[in-house]
Amino acid sequence: MSDHIETRVYALDPQQPDPAVIAQAAAVIRAGGLVAFPTETVYGLGADATDSAAVGRIFTAKARPPSDPVIVHIAAVEQIDLVAVDVPPIAWTLARAFWPGPLTLILKRGALIPANVSAGRDTVAVRMPSHPIARALIQAAGTPIAAPSANTFSRPSATTAQHVLADLRGRVDIVLDGGPTPVGLESTIVDLTGPAAAILRPGGITIEALRQYIPAIEVRSRLLAMDAAAEAPGQLIKHYSPHAEMRLFAGVDAAALTPMRTAAEALIAGGRRVGILITDEDAAHFAGLPVEVGSLGSGRDLAAVGARLFAALRDLDSRAVDVILAHGFGHEGLGAAIWDRLLRAAEGKVIDAE
Ligand code: TXA
Ligand code: MG
Repeated sequence: MSDHIETRVYALDPQQPDPAVIAQAAAVIRAGGLVAFPTETVYGLGADATDSAAVGRIFTAKARPPSDPVIVHIAAVEQIDLVAVDVPPIAWTLARAFWPGPLTLILKRGALIPANVSAGRDTVAVRMPSHPIARALIQAAGTPIAAPSANTFSRPSATTAQHVLADLRGRVDIVLDGGPTPVGLESTIVDLTGPAAAILRPGGITIEALRQYIPAIEVRSRLLAMDAAAEAPGQLIKHYSPHAEMRLFAGVDAAALTPMRTAAEALIAGGRRVGILITDEDAAHFAGLPVEVGSLGSGRDLAAVGARLFAALRDLDSRAVDVILAHGFGHEGLGAAIWDRLLRAAEGKVIDAE
């Protein structure tokens, strides 16, 4: 593959994408090329999931280690049978309940899917996205589409076409610009291949919603532990990282905001440029301090906070801050996924107020 590709960008109506543009992008997928497209969670970097050479191009474009498997996107629930085998009944139950939507199921890999999609494992991650552009593209391509998030490896996931281009221009054939992605956090990943169903990554579908179908579902994401600082740091993948150093404060509201303000004052006194990842309501706690504000919108609406999280991280980075201060939003509902992403960005380190 040549080092530089001329990247074509097409703006599309996210609700009613132009079929001519979709057909052109689908032809690129069928020819083994790369198309970045919006899903309801984040932008994906797509290739024909049945073509191992095309899938290989995804890894090259993202500089993604070949040991990190990618998700296969399908356009209809029944297509599970196209990509997976020995599908347990609970998979169909979850698919009917949550698809199309931000839920990924780990199943046994079918023969149609080449090994490099799954980093050599005998399992496959499957998801049916709800975004009209994603669905139209998969349907028109007539093949499942393998797609990781459309960011350079270890950068925050892309929630706009501008983020995709910042990371991948010249490395992808087409970028379909459908505007900002509505959920903004990646899909929830549920492993159904082990003895007990387990959540590997909290995401757009909440743990509470999954418990209605699997009351005893395990959460295997080590990052969810409140005292993650105690976990072996070597096990934490550097992920979702801004360039700036991220400092994550335990607690919510004043319990986090007071030590954050103290830390900001000390850093500023030491000549550092400080960014804060904060809701509009809480920004007042930093009044009078020369901090850069990465806005998370209203803290009363966790969905809005989740939707803005990665954009706010990238925004602060673009303002060349040295340190970013942030706090979590509890562990209920989308709070779990937000905490997971913040913790990864902070490389697992949490600052306790006590
Ligand atoms: O919302 C999303 O899931 C987005 C959109 C584009 O669909 N995709 C996404 O892909 O976040 P990515 O590659 O950034 O994250 C996929 C993760 C991998 O890092 C890996 O942890 C897990 O899915 N995964 C994929 N295949 C797997 C498998 N066979 N077994 C276990 N985990 C797997
Ligand atoms: Mg990713």
